[in-house]
Amino acid sequence: MAGDYDLVVVANRLPVDRVTEADGTTAWRRSPGGLVTALEPVMQREDGAWVGWAGSPGDPPEPFDAEGVRCVPIGLSETEVEEYYEGFSNGTLWPLYHDVIVAPDYHRRWWESYVRVNRRFAERAAEQAAERATVWVQDYQLQLVPQMLRELRPDLHIGFFNHIPFPPFEIFAQLPWRAAIIDGLLGADLVGFQRAADAANFTRACRRAKGLPARSGRIRLDAEGGREVRAASFPISIDFRALSDLAQTEGVKARAAEIRRDLGDPQFVLLGIDRLDYTKGIPHRLKAFEELLADEKVQASEAALVQVATPSRERVEQYVQLRQDVEVIVGRINGTHSTIAHRAVHYLHHSYDKEEMAALFLAADVMLVTALRDGMNLVAKEYVAARHDERGVLVLSEFTGAADEFGQALLVNPHDIDGLKETVVRALRMSPREAGRRMRALRRRVQEHDVQRWATTFLQALEEHAGTRGIESVD
Ligand code: G6P
Repeated sequence: MAGDYDLVVVANRLPVDRVTEADGTTAWRRSPGGLVTALEPVMQREDGAWVGWAGSPGDPPEPFDAEGVRCVPIGLSETEVEEYYEGFSNGTLWPLYHDVIVAPDYHRRWWESYVRVNRRFAERAAEQAAERATVWVQDYQLQLVPQMLRELRPDLHIGFFNHIPFPPFEIFAQLPWRAAIIDGLLGADLVGFQRAADAANFTRACRRAKGLPARSGRIRLDAEGGREVRAASFPISIDFRALSDLAQTEGVKARAAEIRRDLGDPQFVLLGIDRLDYTKGIPHRLKAFEELLADEKVQASEAALVQVATPSRERVEQYVQLRQDVEVIVGRINGTHSTIAHRAVHYLHHSYDKEEMAALFLAADVMLVTALRDGMNLVAKEYVAARHDERGVLVLSEFTGAADEFGQALLVNPHDIDGLKETVVRALRMSPREAGRRMRALRRRVQEHDVQRWATTFLQALEEHAGTRGIESVD
């Protein structure tokens, strides 16, 4: 049975989270993370449905409209949140796909839950999609959905986009269920990745784990009459215009000036904005800042570092540990280098709305993105979009997808603390002329490659590829 929507997005999270307020009432809050940042503006323009989890355990609410998007909630039980979301998605796949920065845990119970929950997402998406609709499945939490969906609805055009890295086979091979994951993804017509290297890793995994003929991003499935799956890169982006315009409003500009005043008008404001995640390299950047203050390469009285660390996956063990580590380092830096009049590190364990983020970007002389591994890192693109004044310097880790596009940023290896320190000093001392030249080039790149272009390019490639496979199987 078919539904009404010609485009259905399936993602672990809806664009909004259901939260219970102190007085017991429920409210909706914007979900965290880059996936929602990118997809929300795309779906606001489309007449499609978004299938996803509402962010807390329990029965799902009825479908509803939020921020101009039709939302179709999926329910997860308390156990499923533990086993599918915190467990297999974020205790197994997340660290495995991010270069095993921490050790992944492999538990058969978690895997069984992942299979069960993926089936629920596939069934719900199948109900929503109209005849021959396009279904676009998102990210590592739902890698089995494409195949499950194809079995339920062979008429659909199925795309998958992986927002995080796809690891080299030597790492992926650890996964006891590697062949099942490949089978799941190959249910799609088009599998999209952030970087060309991710697409190449996936193609190689198809050869090595499954012995499939796979070359130049085309994987042939002889068992399915030679059906071909395409794998390619589609670097994701942001709504450049919306953020650039927001940052030019009087309210945001005034707030940016107020932030600098409240920080005590230091000569330099450095900024980090991340989910509190071990992939983001927050301790590395704090360590570099701490040493710069200790060496007096930067005077404590002239610089302030603002670190926004948005709470994330707070019950997963490695995140609990990271929070403790970061708070110890921040405490140590402030104990040593702050005075009554001036604080060295402003650590904010909160999430903020778009206006406040835009004001923070505008207030910052140097933006520090020091991820150890990151699929793209949209914060880097947001900083650039907010800097309509063509000021500010972006220090960017080589290990982000964004580094492939941002040759004009100051690229760093965050493991190299001396190199990182030198780069931060270079950023702080850069002439306005050079900073302006670099920022203009970065802005041009994001303006020309915004999220609308990303979505259109992906969906066109999907239609072209899926269109050629014909629909004989439907009748
Ligand atoms: C990253 C992932 C998204 C995820 C987001 C927030 O951006 O690629 O799939 O939604 O982080 O993480 P959370 O676990 O809170 O959904």
